[in-house]
Amino acid sequence: MTLQYSVLVTGGAGYIGSHTTLALQAAGHDVVVIDNLSTGDRNLVAEGVSFIEGDVADTRLVRRVLREHRVGAVIHFAGSIVNPESFEQPLAYYANNTSASRNLLEACVAEGVETFLFSSSASVYGEVERLPIDETDPTNPASPYGASKLMTEWMLRDIGAAHNLQWGALRYFNVAGADAALRAGQVGPATHLIKIAVEVAVGARKGMEIFGDDYGTPDGTCIRDYVHVSDLADAHVAALEHLQTGQSELILNCGYGHGYSVHDIIEAVERVSGQPLNARVAERRIGDTSKLVADNRRILRTLDWAPKFNTIDTIISSALAWEQKRRGL
Ligand code: UFG
Repeated sequence: MTLQYSVLVTGGAGYIGSHTTLALQAAGHDVVVIDNLSTGDRNLVAEGVSFIEGDVADTRLVRRVLREHRVGAVIHFAGSIVNPESFEQPLAYYANNTSASRNLLEACVAEGVETFLFSSSASVYGEVERLPIDETDPTNPASPYGASKLMTEWMLRDIGAAHNLQWGALRYFNVAGADAALRAGQVGPATHLIKIAVEVAVGARKGMEIFGDDYGTPDGTCIRDYVHVSDLADAHVAALEHLQTGQSELILNCGYGHGYSVHDIIEAVERVSGQPLNARVAERRIGDTSKLVADNRRILRTLDWAPKFNTIDTIISSALAWEQKRRGL
């Protein structure tokens, strides 16, 4: 099939963007990547993809790219993603996530882009009363990061109502793992639990900390719903294609609906890797909510999407394999 338009992936040199680029290519889409390489890695951009080094906030640049590459759809990943860091740098988070998204959307509207898929986050929910969380539950972000994502969802709602823009927002739970063929994985300074744990397992760190064991959860540590990055990448392709049938205002949780505590994850990484992680309990970390588990019935009902890597062992073993590969082990 010859597709008339290409898909612009912002942040395509980053972790989730690079995996989604691979999934889009596998589905036959032409892809253009824009990334300012502030946290991304040029080596993660798939072969056969046009790459533009630049910032999504640069409306003139983005408009030119949209025109020159006949972009019909945008998947927007570029942004800052470290929840605790957003308390120290709220201005940077609102600039990189909220203002930059506004500029990108302005360019999209000006150039007649009709489809826009946004990388949102479960952090829009904040501390919740009950699990699992569905998309109609209240949003009450517990961090500037979560607020910066929710504000972009609101912009999309308003811009979608005023202009010809079909939009979707995927609310990711905790993304982990790596491409099965190890073409992509997580790079850069680690803050996420599974990434840190596998770094300990391969000997790149001496030990790790458990941020708080006095939460109101069964073992006292925080509970999260871990989703494999390649399943998430496939969800983007399915969501994009759904939007292209004329659907809009597509807000979907992306998770498996299984909660694991920090202790559960540490035990699982020790079991899968055969290495002790030397984890010790430390203070709570700012901005952590006690529990986030997705009710994923809406995404399963709405999209042609079936998770393929949805066991914690698959997630961990792929993260471990990637960590070994990038360190030449
Ligand atoms: N944790 C530790 N030790 C570490 C790292 C993390 O105990 O060294 C704990 C955290 O305190 C938290 C849990 O492991 O309780 C998960 O923390 P991560 O940093 O891996 O992920 P977050 O839950 O903070 O955030 C991630 C994404 C967000 C997203 C959120 C949704 O970074 O973008 O998941 O669930 F919004």
